[in-house]
Amino acid sequence: MNSTLSPLPDAPARVPTLPPSTPSAPTLELMQEVRDRKRELNAVILAHNYQVPEIQDVADFVGDSLGLAQQAAQTDADVIVFCGVHFMAETAKILNPDKLVILPDRNAGCSLEESCPADKLRALQQANPNFYTIAYINCSAEVKALTDVICTSGNAVKIVEAAPPDRDLLFVPDENLGAWVMEQTGRPMTLWRGNCYAHVEFRRDSLLRLQASFPDAKVVVHPESLREVRELADAVCSTEKMIAYCRTSPARQFIIVTESGIIHRLRKECPGKEFICAPTYDVMQMPADNCRCSQCKFMKLNTLEKLRNCLRQLHPRVELPAPLLQRARLPIERMLEISAR
Ligand code: 13P
Ligand code: SF4
Repeated sequence: MNSTLSPLPDAPARVPTLPPSTPSAPTLELMQEVRDRKRELNAVILAHNYQVPEIQDVADFVGDSLGLAQQAAQTDADVIVFCGVHFMAETAKILNPDKLVILPDRNAGCSLEESCPADKLRALQQANPNFYTIAYINCSAEVKALTDVICTSGNAVKIVEAAPPDRDLLFVPDENLGAWVMEQTGRPMTLWRGNCYAHVEFRRDSLLRLQASFPDAKVVVHPESLREVRELADAVCSTEKMIAYCRTSPARQFIIVTESGIIHRLRKECPGKEFICAPTYDVMQMPADNCRCSQCKFMKLNTLEKLRNCLRQLHPRVELPAPLLQRARLPIERMLEISAR
């Protein structure tokens, strides 16, 4: 831990954590309907680590943005059902222009995607023709089409290290991930001023108080978080690497600084270990009756019922014009190729 400040003295009385999830009989029925319909359609269900437990449990693959893109690139299913946010489903469509890609809720957006409109990016690129543009995958297809290479939090360091040394690097749209990658690589970059509305709510003081209650816990932080929070981390990594870290670490307790949907997989894959959700509010003010662990309002738009409905109706669908699909594919393929090295 790199902290130069000592923990605040007053520790929280309650532990921010999620109640265990036990599906009810109607939920189990719905899960069976999803599985049956998926088989009929020869569909594959890809779900992000932040999805609700019942969606994770019916998915064929649960993972981080990189793992999901890799799965989308190699699936032989006829239909891809993407349980995550819209830019992820779009990425699956870009990699599979001839397949049907559906998602439970078309409105599952992302604050990072919103922060970076394609016309503003184009204007900035025109100001410096020597820019080599690296985009975090959390952006629209239009933005992807303007870039040289895509990255995820799982491979951003590798992608930046592979960038041509004679070019000026422009990193969009997450300034916090970008700042962390600069720290890791020593490579200066111009950063777009976007952020994840959910991760920037984690604060140093609140985390220090939690650490005072759990002095043996390892602190695992997503790089979309603020620097003041990353500085307290034992590990800074993507959601998939968080799971690997907790599985292999000899520690028994972990403070998890990311969206709380990940706790479901952590509990399943690391039995006997304890996971404490970092709160996005001051732990001293925590209400007695609920946990208010961090949740992404976009990821949580997806429900099992909406998943069943989209499998029934084959709607909403991701549809993009062919030239855009073609142009946006190049930087994603470049990312997959560099990642596999
Ligand atoms: P990863 O799961 O790729 O680490 O990304 C987190 C995230 O915020 C996705 O929107
Ligand atoms: Fe976007 Fe943040 Fe939600 Fe991820 S957690 S989808 S970065 S708003």
